[in-house]
Amino acid sequence: MHLLSLLSLALWLSSVYSAPTLLGLIGPFSTQATTPESASALDALTPLANFAEQAYCSIDQVTSRSCGAPCDATPGVTVLASGGDGDETPQWYVAHDATSQSIIVAHQGTHPTNLLSVLNDLEVLPSPLNHTLFPQTSIAVLVHTGFQLAFERSIDAIDHAVISALQQYSLSSVQVTGHSLGAALGVLNGVHLAQVLPPSISVRTTVFGLPRMGNPAWATMVDATLSGPNPPLIHMSNKLDLFPNIPPQLLGWQHPQGEVYIEPESGDVVACAGEENINCASGNLLPLVIADHAGPYAGVLLGGHGCT
Ligand SMILES: *[C@@H]1O[C@H](CO)[C@@H](O)[C@H](O)[C@H]1NC(C)=O
Repeated sequence: MHLLSLLSLALWLSSVYSAPTLLGLIGPFSTQATTPESASALDALTPLANFAEQAYCSIDQVTSRSCGAPCDATPGVTVLASGGDGDETPQWYVAHDATSQSIIVAHQGTHPTNLLSVLNDLEVLPSPLNHTLFPQTSIAVLVHTGFQLAFERSIDAIDHAVISALQQYSLSSVQVTGHSLGAALGVLNGVHLAQVLPPSISVRTTVFGLPRMGNPAWATMVDATLSGPNPPLIHMSNKLDLFPNIPPQLLGWQHPQGEVYIEPESGDVVACAGEENINCASGNLLPLVIADHAGPYAGVLLGGHGCT
């Protein structure tokens, strides 16, 4: 009991006062120089951000392609399946995208104040990764309990929809996306699909505003599962957003590699080599701001404000 309250207190304190100056003491980090993202690489992220935004809209409107700007920005889309309740289980949908010739899986996020409470409640205590859903895990891999529970509630239906969509359209490409809580669900989903689908299927995961979601063994496993040229994992972080910096590294949480960072002053977008690159979000000094959580990411504001 005392330990738990101490831990929540520490978690709360550090989510309010994260201490980047302690970075060197608290976990592995990268100091490699960043590289500018090309205009074409950045353009390629815009449709994924629009798909992430659609996961916040009414599923009826997304299915009928009448959700407003985010739907209009991605023509040629057929929604094939959807689920979740927008509450305990965030909404998700599976769609065919004729433009990219891929199957899209998108997860809804949550309001920042709600995400703060999810990150601060007891379900933040990490638990072992579900071995049935992640056959290539080791027992050392721990992830955020609440994220994993939400994932377990939706993944069977998502798997079913993805597998039948790949067959129906004779495709070999899946793209997973999400923002905020939906970013964490998206990374779980991308790693899961990469572990259970045949290697001939390409799985790309592009998420926005990712909070930390697992321990260093998790980060190592994500790096190993989603690695390669034309990186299969991108987690984009915006300026001084608080959420990429919580829960704190101090308490044993670690981001995988694949960060693409929007710099605070210039708005320049850079790729950040390695895990927890201090030239990117992990190196941010106080104060961190919740308002930056919405982006814009590759030109798209996220959080549901774009839905009609
Ligand atoms: C793993 O996930 C599956 C499917 O979502 C669920 O049925 C099972 O209970 C989970 N296993 C554990 C150990 O929690």
